Amino acid sequence: MAAKRFHLGWFMNFTPDLWNEPFANGGSPWTGEFYMEMAKALERACFDYIMVEDKLSVSESYGGSSEIYLKHAIGMVPKHDPAPLAALMSAATKRLGIVITMSTMAYPPFLLARLCSTLDHIAGGRFGWNIVTSAEDFAAQNFGMDQLPPRELRYDMADEYLDLVCKLFDSWEPDAVVMDREKGVYADYKKVHPINFKGKFFKCRGPLNTARSPQGRPVFVQAGGSPRGREFAAKHADSIITLADGLEGMKWYRDDIRKRAAAHGRNPDDVKVLYLVIPTLAETKEAAYAKRDRMISSPAFIEQTLGLVSAITDIDFSKFDLDSMLPPLTTNGEQGSLDKFAQWGSGKTLRQLIYESAEFDSSIELIGTPDQVADRMGEIIEEVGGDGFLITMHNQSVSRKQVIEVTDGLVPALQRRGLVRTEYKYPTLRENLRDF
Ligand SMILES: Cc1cc2nc3c(=O)[nH]c(=O)nc-3n(C[C@H](O)[C@H](O)[C@H](O)COP(=O)(O)O)c2cc1C
Repeated sequence: MAAKRFHLGWFMNFTPDLWNEPFANGGSPWTGEFYMEMAKALERACFDYIMVEDKLSVSESYGGSSEIYLKHAIGMVPKHDPAPLAALMSAATKRLGIVITMSTMAYPPFLLARLCSTLDHIAGGRFGWNIVTSAEDFAAQNFGMDQLPPRELRYDMADEYLDLVCKLFDSWEPDAVVMDREKGVYADYKKVHPINFKGKFFKCRGPLNTARSPQGRPVFVQAGGSPRGREFAAKHADSIITLADGLEGMKWYRDDIRKRAAAHGRNPDDVKVLYLVIPTLAETKEAAYAKRDRMISSPAFIEQTLGLVSAITDIDFSKFDLDSMLPPLTTNGEQGSLDKFAQWGSGKTLRQLIYESAEFDSSIELIGTPDQVADRMGEIIEEVGGDGFLITMHNQSVSRKQVIEVTDGLVPALQRRGLVRTEYKYPTLRENLRDF
């Protein structure tokens, strides 16, 4: 029986990353050169897409100060704008999908639609938007609010926002640009329409002032975790990314999304669920475990982990005793990530949770040689039913060495098993996602 093929994405952020590691990238990250190289490497490995994470604040969640965020500069700050980086990565590649994160809280819908349309043109139909509603009060305070609206309201606003931007994307009919030299007509004004949108939260006249982009609208990526978030994702997204909890959690999440998508009249096969994973790769299984143990025993690991969890939950983890259990906690931020970290009911101390959080960003443990990990990935997809993996590294930070281990070790092992593509079939990201 032929192996069930699956999709691959990579989740990273535009930061200084592993600046003080033995295999640091060197040089300035801000020219985008390293990330262009990374995009080329992922294209060589036929990834579906590279996805840039984003946040819009300098956090002070841990200890009421920005100190540890600025001190470690890992994953959090400084963090540069992904949109110009998307243009550079698009120019450096021909087939790889380029997905960036933008918040519905931050961009006026017209500007976002215009930016997406422009980037989809630059990328020749390979652009995607990771739709987030933001999860931090510090971010809200950079946009004139005192605090984040509650989650349900954020998603209600985002639903209307999506409705509006889709109308803007469609405000140019597919054949509006005629470029008729004889008649001297560039675009047919009868095929470009105002939208006169008046919603509960947004108002916009339209039409968009960019030409219709190759994909019409960008590929929508989303990461809803809460019931409301999953409903939003299942209604809109072409690809859903998730941090699930083990095999059962992965299967449960995908089944839930597929049911919700069908209830919205969508073909569930048009919604590709990618599971966030951190593969730890080495020449032998023992070396792979040693590599992970080295990482979690580094002195900065505790502070970095708690800083990150504080930032995405708006909860100050500096006030909890490392050798006691956590009290019950809820957040208006990333509840799913909090739940995964806290392992409620496990009886574990905060210190144990931190050490186990080497897998915090991994839906399931993937550790060993490229061949061992490739076998495991095949088994997992067989069991959960589909659709692929979103590879990341701890704190979404990345070095050249880590990229090569995946593109030149793991991916060839997957390809030998017929589990991932060996060449792109289509020019656009949406078509490649729907290929299998
Ligand atoms: C793989 C993954 C990537 C995410 N990337 C971002 C991001 O770049 N920026 C952001 O503000 N939120 C990001 N989030 C948070 C989600 O947008 C969402 O808020 C979170 O999964 C919680 O779901 P909920 O909003 O339904 O509670 C990400 C979540 C996951 C699982």
